[in-house]
Amino acid sequence: MEKFIIEGPTRLCGDVNISGAKNAAVAIIPAALLVEGICTIENVPQISDVKISCEILKELGVKVEWLTPNTIRLDTTHINSTTAPIDMTSKFRASYYLIGSLLSRCHSAEVGSPGGCKIGARPIDQHIKGFEALGATVTVANGRISAKADKLVGTSIYLDTVSVGATINVMLAAVLAEGTTTIDNCAKEPHVVDVANFLNTMGADIRGAGTDLIKINGVKELKGNGTYSVVPDQIEAGTYLLAAMATKGDVTIHNCISKHLESLTSKIEEMGGHVEELPDDSIRVWTDERAKKCNIKTLPYPVFPTDLQPQAGVVLALADGTSILNENIWESRFQYTEELNKMGAHITAQGKTAVFEGVESLSGAPVSASDLRAGAALLIAGMAANGKTELSNIALIDRGYECIEEKFTKLGAKIKRVDVEE
Ligand code: UD1
Repeated sequence: MEKFIIEGPTRLCGDVNISGAKNAAVAIIPAALLVEGICTIENVPQISDVKISCEILKELGVKVEWLTPNTIRLDTTHINSTTAPIDMTSKFRASYYLIGSLLSRCHSAEVGSPGGCKIGARPIDQHIKGFEALGATVTVANGRISAKADKLVGTSIYLDTVSVGATINVMLAAVLAEGTTTIDNCAKEPHVVDVANFLNTMGADIRGAGTDLIKINGVKELKGNGTYSVVPDQIEAGTYLLAAMATKGDVTIHNCISKHLESLTSKIEEMGGHVEELPDDSIRVWTDERAKKCNIKTLPYPVFPTDLQPQAGVVLALADGTSILNENIWESRFQYTEELNKMGAHITAQGKTAVFEGVESLSGAPVSASDLRAGAALLIAGMAANGKTELSNIALIDRGYECIEEKFTKLGAKIKRVDVEE
């Protein structure tokens, strides 16, 4: 098992390049199954969820070739299985996109129940509702989800919940369906738009992604032969900006889309941070002062993302005054607050709400990541705190952050990855 040993405090300063978005890449890779040919995907982050996605595709008969550390070429001309290995699919959440993709291309899919971060109940009823509306029969039994259809026919689907996963998965299933599908009450996250853009580049006819109504005119096939570049990671970008705030630093992130970060940068300004948008897709955030108290509510895009809630929590833990954080997407996303309290924070979390009574400083302690974003938050806390923090369970961080210790080290952090006996 690996751990991070972090020596703090550090004032993070300098420049960092943002990688391609995890949540777009882990959807675009299975979406490539819809293409009967070759496609090249650039700006793919080197993270463990991407590596597992590629391994699964290989098991299904796809030729996967890494052209550069961040570019893959997928040859999906021949698919020889529609059953994804159960041990691999249970390792991460986005394996559910194999259902929509295989169903669309091969009219049959069998996938183990998806895994992913333990941040609350993660039902997939809306994915299933969409597949069934398109004409599929879906069975959930023995830890597997199976879907079959003689043919898929376009229809109107209203999602009862705004769900990123259901929006993308139903869109995938509808791309090769007969006729037109409309999906209403869609998620509008940048990665939803990115998957639609990828599919359109390969020959699909999807309109309206990024609004709450997506219309998909079914096409006979996707011929591929295109190259697509994954959108910059909004959550990785936000993590570095919040790390600048927590360490009273001065950080410029490059290769980001400022529009995707507006809900965050407005909160950073409310916390007393300075934000400067630079013309070359860069944003600089800096502060010399202790952050001011600030209340935050998470909601689907374009409101504040739940995946930045724990990292923002570290800034509030150190802020001047009492702040309130409302988590409206996942019911178990405050597990990191107990770990921050071990470092001297004063946080009371109950149900959807956490109250942060800001303290002037944190002190290093042994802490453990309960999920990917909690891990990122505790890493930031370790860099802001006085003394040594030992952060365990860091394989969860590797699921979603490319070269995280190299990037933070370049900003001045003192982080060591060490191997420890279990
Ligand atoms: C995705 C992201 C995750 C992020 C989340 C919300 C990926 C791989 N993961 O997860 O990092 O935290 O969006 O931005 O992209 N729901 C239902 N029924 C469903 C589906 C969802 O009730 O069929 C509910 C969930 O319980 C949750 C809410 O809808 O309360 C949002 O979930 P959803 O947007 O689907 O999250 P994921 O796609 O799993």
